[in-house]
Amino acid sequence: MKKLIAGNWKMNGSLAANEALLREIAAGLSAQPACAIAVCVPAPYLAQVQALVAGMPAVALGAQDVSSHASGAFTGELSASMLREFGCRYVIVGHSERRQYHGETDTLVADKAKAALAAGVTPIVCVGETLAEREAGQTEQVVKRQLAAVIHTNGHCISEIVVAYEPVWAIGTGKTATPEEAQAVHAVLRTQLKAATDQAARVKILYGGSMNAANASSLLAQADIDGGLIGGASLKAPDFLKIIAAAPV
Ligand code: PGA
Repeated sequence: MKKLIAGNWKMNGSLAANEALLREIAAGLSAQPACAIAVCVPAPYLAQVQALVAGMPAVALGAQDVSSHASGAFTGELSASMLREFGCRYVIVGHSERRQYHGETDTLVADKAKAALAAGVTPIVCVGETLAEREAGQTEQVVKRQLAAVIHTNGHCISEIVVAYEPVWAIGTGKTATPEEAQAVHAVLRTQLKAATDQAARVKILYGGSMNAANASSLLAQADIDGGLIGGASLKAPDFLKIIAAAPV
């Protein structure tokens, strides 16, 4: 399976910075990278980045959140069909920052994934335990509960999602799960997907949390790590390019 390296710009960027970043990425990309690539950008920049990546066939566009509703009186929200209209191939759902700061529940995340799939946008569903949960030995239980909600709501469509395992304690902290720690959780998620669909082998399970140019190749070498969701390092073209280059065929 082709790996997927997806940048999560979070709430960063400006018209000028986005253009400079993408031009530098375009200049450094090989003509046919071995992996699939995406950038998940703040919503106001979707149109700008849609135009910029139109000249970069290897780079897909993504958003960072989506409403669980199709349309209507939901001030401030963005529907999946709107994202689709701006060329989004992906949308991140259930990022830990949204679970933590916006009270997103497992059920809401599952509904958001369903809304994305209905509009033809691939949800990148984030799961992951906090430090307290890891220290309490609850990692497996937490990620399984989070994924179970998405499986329950999405039925056989579950084979169309991308999963991102992002241990909360590793996000933006410079602390990465070791390749073995990450692989162990990815294997749990793969087994859970296998019980839900006979297509589980083609569901990409990304790792996220302080993935960088130095640690990417050892993480991406693991059997069930099918790519990365990259925050901080996706804002620096040389680092993002190194992670892309580290993805094995
Ligand atoms: P990080 O963020 O790479 O900066 O740790 C990853 C993420 O939150 O998706």
